[in-house]
Amino acid sequence: MADTAYRAEGLTRTYGSGHSAVHALRGVDLDLPAGEIVVLLGPSGSGKSTLLNILGGLDRPTSGRVWFGAEELTAMSDRTLTRYRRDHLGFIFQFYNLMPSLTAEENVELVTEIARNPMTPAEALGLVGLKERAGHFPSQLSGGEQQRVAIARAVAKQPDVLLCDEPTGALDSTTGREVLGVLQALNRRLGTTVLIVTHAAATAGMADRVIRFADGAIRSVEENAAPCPAGEIEW
Ligand SMILES: Nc1ncnc2c1ncn2[C@@H]1O[C@H](COP(=O)(O)OP(=O)(O)O)[C@@H](O)[C@H]1O
Ligand SMILES: [Mg+2]
Repeated sequence: MADTAYRAEGLTRTYGSGHSAVHALRGVDLDLPAGEIVVLLGPSGSGKSTLLNILGGLDRPTSGRVWFGAEELTAMSDRTLTRYRRDHLGFIFQFYNLMPSLTAEENVELVTEIARNPMTPAEALGLVGLKERAGHFPSQLSGGEQQRVAIARAVAKQPDVLLCDEPTGALDSTTGREVLGVLQALNRRLGTTVLIVTHAAATAGMADRVIRFADGAIRSVEENAAPCPAGEIEW
């Protein structure tokens, strides 16, 4: 992975047209070094998910350019973009999207079976502290445990980047801290770049870099010389 994870120039994204057009992104320039935990903070509707989806190759900007390392995402065909997602990214969303009929281990296996350089499902579940729950079905797990299975699934292919959209949005504060602690430990242990998009301002404390976002634009970028352990976040 290059020193720069993402660079973007002049990203806009407009939904619809004419009087009903929604300007979700209004000119975003970005420079994200690899290996950091970046927290992108902003109120609901400010365009955070739109930006994350563009970085994740799930959507394309209306204008502007974006690079992953030296590769320009905005110049890729759909097929190349799909390969980029498969080979480099893990996604974590607010809702865990686990298959209810599969055990924790089998949910992780769905990814390890098709990845280039995967861990074993047992290793991935170990990293999130769920080795003993491998045989449980999602309905037998708490919300926090289900999110940890989703994280195990995302990290099992050893991605360069974890893109997390409101990963604690459905969790109580204690469980949320645990889940953020898992993301922090993965970043420190594996060097995975972690981008967390959230409206929960307290999350900023654990970030190496905090981007404040409002109304489709970046308002400030701050580097945090002394990120706190996720367990110390006060909500
Ligand atoms: N598919 C879509 N069609 C139309 N408008 C959309 C769509 N997705 C998002 N929007 C609008 O774009 C704006 C930004 O949305 P979003 O990126 O989801 O914000 P956030 O993640 O910060 O809550 C909002 O006004 C939202 O309603
Ligand atoms: Mg969102």
